[in-house]
Amino acid sequence: MQRPIIIAPSILAADFGRLAEEVRRAETAGADWIHVDVMDGHFVPNLTVGPDVVRGLRRATKLPLDVHLMVDRPDKFVPQFIDAGADWVSIHIESPCNVATTLEIIRAAGKKPGIVLNPGTPIKAIQPHLDRVKLVLVMTVNPGFGGQPFIESCVEKIAQLAALREARKLDFEIEVDGGIGEKTVGACATAGANVMVAGVALFRAPDMAQAIAAMRAACQ
Ligand code: DX5
Ligand code: ZN
Repeated sequence: MQRPIIIAPSILAADFGRLAEEVRRAETAGADWIHVDVMDGHFVPNLTVGPDVVRGLRRATKLPLDVHLMVDRPDKFVPQFIDAGADWVSIHIESPCNVATTLEIIRAAGKKPGIVLNPGTPIKAIQPHLDRVKLVLVMTVNPGFGGQPFIESCVEKIAQLAALREARKLDFEIEVDGGIGEKTVGACATAGANVMVAGVALFRAPDMAQAIAAMRAACQ
């Protein structure tokens, strides 16, 4: 099954003083989803946004909002992000909470649950959850900050995951996040990823439409 390529600009690299405008700029440039990085200063050493910002983004765009929770207790916050208008909600396998229960809360609310794994976490750690998710996010940097270099060794994990999906007849998107741009996205697509998150490579590009088109072309 050939899944469509989804380009998801990460607002982490946007101008936070003009977020609504920035999201509209991404929409006009041809983005498919908007990726929102939620960080709590505990799970990762950085702080970003909460549910109220997601609510504001919901008013600014019709594009699906892809919320990536990098927080210690995602189970406590998932309902608030859903209420704020998140469409996809992803939680880290490394986060100290009941992962199965939290994924079920997302599913029961009619939203799309996702599981995320860090570069150092093997695929086998998420295996018990693969039939509960609609998306697996393979981090291609250690989470916390935008603009970090792509970790090449993660490509092999994408391929492993795609093979497992095929063998077990599972149904989830494979997303990549961190250091993604025109030069790195092709290897991820070849390995089996189809949802491409990019912050700096899109929001800081001189022409976002051109940068999105170049990423799509590199996936062919
Ligand atoms: C990193 C975040 C990413 C980040 C990617 O912790 O999860 O979504 O915005 O930024 P770039 O594309 O600039 O590496
Ligand atoms: Zn992210």
